[in-house]
Amino acid sequence: MSFSVLTAVRSFSSTSTMKMALKNVTVIGSGLMGSGIAQVAAQTGHNVTLVDVSEPILQKATASIKKSLERVAKKKYSDNASEGEKFVAESLKRLTTNTSAEASAKSADIVIEAIVENVKVKQDLFKALDKAAPSSTLFASNTSSLSITDIASATQRKDRFGGLHFFNPVPVMKLLEVIRTVDTSDDTYNKMMEFGKNLGKQTITCKDTPGFVVNRLLVPYMGEAMRMLERGDATAKDIDIAMKLGAGYPMGPFELMDYVGLDTTVFIMEGWHEKYPDNPLFEPSKLLKKLVSEGKLGKKSGEGIYKYD
Ligand code: 3HC
Repeated sequence: MSFSVLTAVRSFSSTSTMKMALKNVTVIGSGLMGSGIAQVAAQTGHNVTLVDVSEPILQKATASIKKSLERVAKKKYSDNASEGEKFVAESLKRLTTNTSAEASAKSADIVIEAIVENVKVKQDLFKALDKAAPSSTLFASNTSSLSITDIASATQRKDRFGGLHFFNPVPVMKLLEVIRTVDTSDDTYNKMMEFGKNLGKQTITCKDTPGFVVNRLLVPYMGEAMRMLERGDATAKDIDIAMKLGAGYPMGPFELMDYVGLDTTVFIMEGWHEKYPDNPLFEPSKLLKKLVSEGKLGKKSGEGIYKYD
């Protein structure tokens, strides 16, 4: 074999080995984020197990993944409907569901957690997974506001633990934040970066700091928009128009808060405010808390800043 052929074979096999390194993916939590992560992993050739507490919840998630895959297919194969149908069918074939996190972790190369934003609940889950999963399995959390170091501290595999922070809607948003703690090994970090690329995402790296890059900037921005509204500086509609047309953002801050959920926004702020009481950027406004206490959570509850049909 000539040198160049050998080099090509080596480089092909190392690429495919890297691609295969995290082929079997377990996603825990089938909410909006977990379903989106599972979908994107399945549509990019990974074997995916989506885990949640009950069959009806998993059936609902699978139905919404199918719908979203069809939206992707419509765009990706706009001139070839049968290829689009094949894409949907093959993606769904790579997706299975399970109600046992421990059982699903046994054959996983990576477990990605996307459950409730509560550090204790996440720690308990990872503690159990740490016992069930092979030692080679990597663990990742999709937390948007908690410390990866705190979550990883419940396990004996801090070196094989990192953050993979996706954005809503996961099939559309191109970014993936890869978070490395001081304990995350080079091997884990490299595999997670490669995994992100295999998912078709643009990866960026951030230290384990509150909100990483995007939420650290977005959350105080949304908080200040709320304070502007409270002060009566401008209407919500005008503030949204201003940021869309003046800064080129796809959504204004209030549309975005309604989309993400006002409860999620207030929850992130309260957590940070408790941990960093001297930082005024993290203080949730009275208006935001009032809306949440009235059940106005955004699009999902039919009303937030705006009303939805
Ligand atoms: N699945 C598949 N495809 C989807 C989709 C989904 N769930 N949602 C939207 N799409 C596709 C649509 O099919 C459409 O495709 P087309 O261009 O071929 O028609 C395309 O995305 C655009 O969707 P729409 O036409 O329905 O609507 P818009 O053009 O208004 O775009 C949006 C919607 C992509 C949500 C856009 O408004 C946007 O980018 N908004 C900002 C979202 C954002 O900032 N997300 C980050 C939130 S912060 C976060 O997630 C962090 C967390 O930790 C809190």
